[in-house]
Amino acid sequence: MAAIDSTKRRYGIVGRSPALENSLNTALRVAPTDLSILITGESGVGKEVFSRIIHDNSPRKHEKFIAINCGAIPEGTINSELFGHVKGAFTNATGDRKGYFESYDGGTIFLDEIGEMPLDTQTYLLRVLESGEFIRVGSSTVQRTDVRIVAATNRKLSERIESGKFREDLFYRLATVNIELPSLRERSEDIYLLFRYFANNFAEQQGFEPIRIDEEARWLLENYQWPGNIRELKNVAEQLSILAEKRELTGPDLLSMMPKLRDRNLPAITKNGQGDGMQEREILYKVLFDMKADLNDLKGLIFELIRSNDLRVPDMGKIRALQLPGAYPAAAEEIDRRAGLDNDAYRPSMDDPIIVDTGMQRAYDRSEIVEEDLSLANAERELIRKALKKHNGRRKEAAAELGISERTLYRKIKEYEIVE
Ligand SMILES: Nc1ncnc2c1ncn2[C@@H]1O[C@H](COP(=O)(O)OP(=O)(O)OP(=O)(O)O)[C@@H](O)[C@H]1O
Ligand SMILES: [Mg+2]
Repeated sequence: MAAIDSTKRRYGIVGRSPALENSLNTALRVAPTDLSILITGESGVGKEVFSRIIHDNSPRKHEKFIAINCGAIPEGTINSELFGHVKGAFTNATGDRKGYFESYDGGTIFLDEIGEMPLDTQTYLLRVLESGEFIRVGSSTVQRTDVRIVAATNRKLSERIESGKFREDLFYRLATVNIELPSLRERSEDIYLLFRYFANNFAEQQGFEPIRIDEEARWLLENYQWPGNIRELKNVAEQLSILAEKRELTGPDLLSMMPKLRDRNLPAITKNGQGDGMQEREILYKVLFDMKADLNDLKGLIFELIRSNDLRVPDMGKIRALQLPGAYPAAAEEIDRRAGLDNDAYRPSMDDPIIVDTGMQRAYDRSEIVEEDLSLANAERELIRKALKKHNGRRKEAAAELGISERTLYRKIKEYEIVE
């Protein structure tokens, strides 16, 4: 365990998923042997880093290490590159030249994209692996070398074997030990850790504050397909760090900067005719998430419309004319006057809720107050009239029944112009 942790620190390997730890554990266990190793995994999962870890943890660590990309060397020159040639071996061979197997004798050769290796080269490689022997191109002298081979492929070698493009015996010889590196999709629990690691590193290099992401944004990263794996995640972390205008990013922020993150890593529900509960949950979550994202887009759109068109709510004079027709406009105006309000100067700000216009709210409140006062007055007038009638116009008895003084009753009769 301690070896795994120190290796992680040394090579900047980030992740705690069992799949990654398993691969690292195998690499460290086989590193000290001389066995050939085949590392398989998609593009950008760390195959080259692992080949380095194997070399550095082997007894050859003080010897040389070279990474050769078999897919990048033209077919016509790969044999000469690997095994060397003698003067006159081909048109441009003006002198003898050592190949990698000679120069790196004692060390480790990492053969990347081994699936691309031409068939004749495969035959020569097999011979080196089996007997340590090779021959320079154009020579007949057998030479010996002691190299350790770590090979890698991001293709399914079995398919190449079936189509006759890869030697089966070489495959078995190479894959004495096979280390399969998991794709990011297979260890999505490491995605957030990796993102933070790359974002923090980049911020430190550039001397700015690292970006942070919320739960939704994290979910987006964890459910994206990552065809380019760690290399792609690193690029995304760095691009977002540059593009983002603020340091706290939400899900919709991420989508607006990286629309490709919409391509979710959802398992195919029809893969074997049916989906299990987990798949259904994931799909439901996706639907809900999309709805939430749409709603946020819509909110943004409305705010933007209001802001960019400088929209304003119709002025209060017009609203009052609509809401308070007929009997009460004068009363409402009087209340405004006393309150010292100038409704026409009122303009909603962006901080106000969009739907509830506080100006309108005040108009409603006021109209209620006006009606309340009037109905009380009406009721009072009605009660006085009834009390007087009941007591046949006898003010003393009517006042007692109403619970007011005779003097007050007298004043109110005058005020309401009650005719007895
Ligand atoms: N577990 C990890 N944590 C952090 N960084 C990693 C990890 N694994 C790989 N990397 C980084 O990811 C990048 C890609 O790794 P590497 O080049 O080894 O991938 P690869 O499998 O060889 O890809 P390709 O098939 O495209 O050649 C490198 O920058 C490497 O340092
Ligand atoms: Mg590579």
